[in-house]
Amino acid sequence: MAKPKVYATHELFPDARKILDATCDVEYWSQQERPSRDELLRRIKDKEGLVCLLTEKINDELLRAAPKLRIASNVAVGYDNIDVDACSKRGVVATNTPGVLDETTADFAWTLLMAIARRVVEGDQFARSGNWKSWNLDQFCGTDIGGKTLGIVGLGRIGSAVARRAAGFQMKVIYTNTKRIPADVEKSLNVEYRDMNQLLAESDFISLHVPLRPETRGLFDSPKFHRMKRTAYLINTSRGPVVDEAALVASLESKTIAGAALDVYENEPFIHPGLKRPNVVLAPHLGSATVETRTKMAVMAATNLVSIFKGQMPPHMINPQVLKKS
Ligand code: GLV
Repeated sequence: MAKPKVYATHELFPDARKILDATCDVEYWSQQERPSRDELLRRIKDKEGLVCLLTEKINDELLRAAPKLRIASNVAVGYDNIDVDACSKRGVVATNTPGVLDETTADFAWTLLMAIARRVVEGDQFARSGNWKSWNLDQFCGTDIGGKTLGIVGLGRIGSAVARRAAGFQMKVIYTNTKRIPADVEKSLNVEYRDMNQLLAESDFISLHVPLRPETRGLFDSPKFHRMKRTAYLINTSRGPVVDEAALVASLESKTIAGAALDVYENEPFIHPGLKRPNVVLAPHLGSATVETRTKMAVMAATNLVSIFKGQMPPHMINPQVLKKS
């Protein structure tokens, strides 16, 4: 029997390819630059499966172009690139990769936090410039992390992993969430609940860990920046559009907040020129970027995809109702 045809918009790690190739006839996009929309729509025409990245919009237009498609397997935990309702309406299963990237992404939120607090990037650029002539008492003085207050917006899997790491710095950790978590979990994580306004007023560092949804789009806007301490820093490893970037730039320009460290942007890979300033650390969406974690994500995405063609339930479905109906 012919293997089901699958399109993968990126070369995957060998462990993941092994899983895919054993069951499917896979066409891989092998260039670093993402396939253009036209290219993607052309390639997907006769495919039953798709392995995609968060850069690909899986919407009605794509689904119309892929009448045989049964599964869209996202190599990411966030799935704001997928129109889940459109997939469900057409009986297309959508899957993601939760769980395997929590610790790595939490590490990176901390990497950014420490980098902005201790001015690592500014220091690196200066060290390379050849302008370092002597050790000075006031050179690149940053701010302490130890004993400060960390505010976590969204205490899910990644937010909790960020909270656990704060213990080593003797920080006070406060959080806000759509739902307050049970008291015993609060106790084990050593976190205290605050409403958003209290969190904004108390935090020295605010780290965002909410998914991008209509209700979180532009969540961090001008009024929120004005409620933050002038000495506070914003860390964002979630999704760019959770922050109103123009408002952030205005707040940095007016010194309403002290700085920001960002991994994600409103219109990636475009970065607002107003963010390119010394008190902002910029990373190109690296939250989960370790060989170990990206391999696990690719393997999970491959496993999700092949499940469909083996007549099994994919382990991480976003819209399980699609299979329950049939
Ligand atoms: C990365 O941003 C992801 O959602 O996995």
